Amino acid sequence: MSLNKTIVALDQMTIEEIENFLSLPENTLETVKIGLELFVKHGPELVIKIHNQFKKKIFLDLKLHDIPITVSRAIYSLKDLPIDFLTVHLSGGEEMLKSALLEARKSIPNCKIMGVSFLTSLEAKDLNSLFGITNPEVAFLRLFQMANKTKIDGVICSPQEIVLLKKDFPNLLAITPGIRFIDEIKAEITQDQKRVSTPQEAINLGADYIVIGRSLTQTKNLRQRLLELT
Ligand code: C5P
Repeated sequence: MSLNKTIVALDQMTIEEIENFLSLPENTLETVKIGLELFVKHGPELVIKIHNQFKKKIFLDLKLHDIPITVSRAIYSLKDLPIDFLTVHLSGGEEMLKSALLEARKSIPNCKIMGVSFLTSLEAKDLNSLFGITNPEVAFLRLFQMANKTKIDGVICSPQEIVLLKKDFPNLLAITPGIRFIDEIKAEITQDQKRVSTPQEAINLGADYIVIGRSLTQTKNLRQRLLELT
């Protein structure tokens, strides 16, 4: 059901741990997410290695956010890397998104550009004190409208926002973190994830892909977890 829609986040892992994890015979996950932590330390070589050695698709979660020319040049620096998804911040604005997309289509043409809405670490009170947002739903919708207008491929949003997104913009892909297995939710093992969904719930809400990190990378029984995703 959701196995081929699952992206595994390789956070807080050494290269050796990553190699061991990706070498497990039961590891049939197709796509891995490389975030800032790993990319800052190991750079494009890690992307190439994981793609070539383990035949995985790559979601490069750099959450780019800068003036348009800087973002565009950063994307040019990724030229020809085997990346399937790249993230940029929607709050960088329309010009930044257009500029990112223009460069991406030239330099990494097979890569989907995904916009990050508000960080899940921001709560309603932060949105209010930072941006004067009193109605988060309206603020999310504005970001989604801009994503749609600039014709980027999709957005990263929590399970709570998928319905809001898909109702008006079904053409935008939704990639959703904040996923925990049902037994973890019952046992309240949600770490720093505040609002979580099970894989099936997120897919039922309309997620095109789900991002799961520690529940897969730190499990003692990956085979069983992957069975739960089939
Ligand atoms: O919590 P988990 O290990 O499954 O995290 C997977 C991904 O979800 C992380 O790489 C991060 O991008 C995202 N995340 C998030 N909000 C959090 C924790 C993680 O969006 N509170």
